[in-house]
Amino acid sequence: MPLSDVRTIGILTGGGDCPGINPAIKAVVCKARSVGVRVLGIRDGWRGLLTDDPADVVELDCRAVEAIDRTGGTILGTSRTNPYRRVDGPGRVASRILALGLDAVVVVGGEDTLGVADRLVRDHGLRIVGIPKTIDRDLSLTDYTLGFESAVQTIAEAIDHLRTTAAAHGRIFVLETMGRLTGHLALRGGIAGGADLVLIPEVEFEVERVCDLLRDRRSQGFRYSIVVVAEGASATGGAKALRSLKTDEFGHKLLGGIGQDLSNEIESRTGLDARYVILSHLQRGGAPGAYDRRMAYYFGTAAVEAVLSGRPGTMVALSGTRVELVSLADAVREVRPVDVARDYDPLNFRHQHRVLGDDLL
Ligand code: F6P
Repeated sequence: MPLSDVRTIGILTGGGDCPGINPAIKAVVCKARSVGVRVLGIRDGWRGLLTDDPADVVELDCRAVEAIDRTGGTILGTSRTNPYRRVDGPGRVASRILALGLDAVVVVGGEDTLGVADRLVRDHGLRIVGIPKTIDRDLSLTDYTLGFESAVQTIAEAIDHLRTTAAAHGRIFVLETMGRLTGHLALRGGIAGGADLVLIPEVEFEVERVCDLLRDRRSQGFRYSIVVVAEGASATGGAKALRSLKTDEFGHKLLGGIGQDLSNEIESRTGLDARYVILSHLQRGGAPGAYDRRMAYYFGTAAVEAVLSGRPGTMVALSGTRVELVSLADAVREVRPVDVARDYDPLNFRHQHRVLGDDLL
């Protein structure tokens, strides 16, 4: 669709919230308004397009989004609604987009929300451009997803706090991070906070080996140790720890609890004092850091540029230091795990990365 034909676009935010979504909304609105395009915000992700309720649609202009770039969460609200799990859900979404007169929709989401976007593009020819956001940073074809660095910052600060109390008592602290089935968040948070061991979902761990490494540290004179464990990590042959057996509309179970299990095991096997902290949704809360604000500005602006230049079915992505458009279908085909061979030492449970002359981990 040529530039002059785009009169109105929609924007929705779906899946888990994170710092960086609001500045992306602001960038989309300001860029679109600067070329005379109206922007309608849709409430609560795909849910807002499954109703005919006018309250689920809000007109956005630059004044409405003026101050939101400093805030976490999403002013539009979010949900894990999957239209493909509703009777005629995709058809209803398509009709609603038509009824609202949306020439294109910018969808801010992770693998699930963008996975729906991709199917809607293919099944109903909808004009959608995606913006990647998730603290898990597990989408393929992009080196960044909004929210990640702010969550890493939260993990680093949590480790800083634990370090003082751990040192005072001479204790082991196990910090459980999010990240679902990938260890990017745990690994980068562990680097930023200087954790001693990091356990990730991509590599099962032997509990006894973890204990040996902690005993070694103690015998070398280290009074305390910090272990970061990703919520999706598991001991060899063990199941993943679950907070609940319920699944969401995309079939995901709620992970959580490995931090407590591991801490108990460490204490009983080594006799060392151990405690655990589950960082949980604190990682998703709070204001976006400067990096997320900047990336949100770039991604939001690029998404409108993609709409105006007629590139639906794409997702904005960071490739090295360039913002590019990639195929939405390719981006959501599979999640991107940690490159263990390149970035992780499975024997010592630490990041391992040749830094000089290589891409940064
Ligand atoms: O995908 C983001 C994420 O925060 C995961 O790291 C975590 O497993 C999940 O969402 C938690 O989901 P909920 O917000 O539904 O508890």
